[in-house]
Amino acid sequence: MKLLRTVADLRAALAPERRAGRSIGLVPTMGAFHAGHRSLMERARSEHDVVVVSLFVNPTQFGAGEDLAAYPRDEARDAAIAAEAGVDVLFAPPVEEVYPDGFATTVRVAGLGDSLEGAQRPGHFDGVATVVTKLLNMAQPDAAYFGQKDAQQALVVRRLVRDLDIPVRIEVCPTVREPDGLALSSRNAYLEPADRARAVALCRALDAAEAAVAAGAREAEAVADAARGAMAPYDVEPEYVALVASDTLAPVERIEGEVLVALAARVGPARLIDNTLITTNGRP
Ligand code: PAJ
Repeated sequence: MKLLRTVADLRAALAPERRAGRSIGLVPTMGAFHAGHRSLMERARSEHDVVVVSLFVNPTQFGAGEDLAAYPRDEARDAAIAAEAGVDVLFAPPVEEVYPDGFATTVRVAGLGDSLEGAQRPGHFDGVATVVTKLLNMAQPDAAYFGQKDAQQALVVRRLVRDLDIPVRIEVCPTVREPDGLALSSRNAYLEPADRARAVALCRALDAAEAAVAAGAREAEAVADAARGAMAPYDVEPEYVALVASDTLAPVERIEGEVLVALAARVGPARLIDNTLITTNGRP
């Protein structure tokens, strides 16, 4: 596996591959790899001749007072995991390579990026959209891989690719979970054992929402109440529990078709998110 630091080196490594007609898959990450990241690398590995993983803790997507400084960083461990997953190129640029002096451009996906996480973390999706646009331009992959764990991020990326005519296929992969249901996240590293036990509140809330719909509930507010109720025994207070259309993120009042249930909660020092797609499959 090659470890590259500059856009020039990345381009130099990929140009001959592209000329030889070999397909390129890109997995953008911020490191601290877990089985969720690995699932994206393995999917890209199974579909492409060349797999590039970017490892860049993107400062512009962190708000003031967020965990940029504390974000877990262990490049040697990540490089070993990427090599093990069969990754060809680990692209780990320094901040100045991505944001040189005078950097002045922001990609902003209005609407989709403003609700849910965007409302709680103003500017977050501008940072995500800007860095993802740059990474897609740097690597010019045939496909790029994202996780359903960050459902809103995946929608924002799909939209910017469409709006800016970026020639790449976006693939969204299922959320990988711990045996007890907790969605894997680099931020789970912040959890002490007692908070780790409480963190299952998020997936239990999603289970409760699914169970309520399976039992016939159709009012979004009733389903959200069921989700909130399931968190209470863990003493976890959600920042939001949202029932929204899975394509536009517009709030829904009734469960019809495919609905995204998305939630966020602070558990000890960690701010965690999770989501699930609920469908009534045409049942009234
Ligand atoms: P990061 O949090 O490192 O996540 C990298 C990719 O892994 C994202 O597409 C994310 O959705 C996916 N992922 C995280 N946890 C997952 C899980 N439990 N199961 C499946 N996939 C999971 O998301 C980012 O980095 C950044 O915002 C980035 C897109 C790299 C832009 O900086």
